[in-house]
Amino acid sequence: MKERWNQRYQAEEFAYGILPNEFLREQLQHIKPGKILFAAEGEGRNAVYAAKLGWEVFAFDISEEGQKKALKLAEENGVSITYEVGEEQYLNYAPAQFDAIVFIYAHFPGPIKSGIQKQISTYLKPGGTILFEAFSKNHLAYVTKNEAVGGPKDLETLFSLDELKADFENYDYLQLQEQEIELHEGIYHNGLGSVVRMVGRKKA
Ligand SMILES: C[S@@+](CC[C@H](N)C(=O)[O-])C[C@H]1O[C@@H](n2cnc3c(N)ncnc32)[C@H](O)[C@@H]1O
Repeated sequence: MKERWNQRYQAEEFAYGILPNEFLREQLQHIKPGKILFAAEGEGRNAVYAAKLGWEVFAFDISEEGQKKALKLAEENGVSITYEVGEEQYLNYAPAQFDAIVFIYAHFPGPIKSGIQKQISTYLKPGGTILFEAFSKNHLAYVTKNEAVGGPKDLETLFSLDELKADFENYDYLQLQEQEIELHEGIYHNGLGSVVRMVGRKKA
């Protein structure tokens, strides 16, 4: 898994581009900057965007090559981010420390994704916000038709709204929906896809 991502990120071009994800960009307009964590952040397009808005940015991913490109992108943009390499269970974030946590196409392997998401949720302050976008289980039909849209090809790694509600149960949902969207993100996300989107506010 790690080797696959390191290989993808060794290319000079950015796999998902250097522009932020569109849902994230829209949502960050409504939240006052504070301390934010990016899960499975890859090459840093979203983390760097948030840092430019004034957020104090933390990120993690299993890929060292992703980290290298993210830190370089941050430097080129004149911002600083704290980016750790590791699987979530080996990273030691303190509980209830972040004002926002972001999952953008953070597709953890099926058997461990629920445990990881529940654990990451403990790092969010009460009243804090989760922003989540990833491919839905219905996306399988889309990627079968058009490989260029990318995304996992196994149902376990893809998401349903019921899974999100189960993993983030102590939340008010400002948005929770599955929808078809057109993606244009770098080399690997191009075309029509089916995604789940969540804006969740953690209850006290
Ligand atoms: C589709 S990419 C998304 C990257 C980034 N969030 C973005 O939207 O540009 C999925 C990312 O998940 C990371 N990943 C996969 N399994 C992981 C794990 N167990 N722990 C941390 N990161 C993981 C990969 O290295 C990869 O960077």
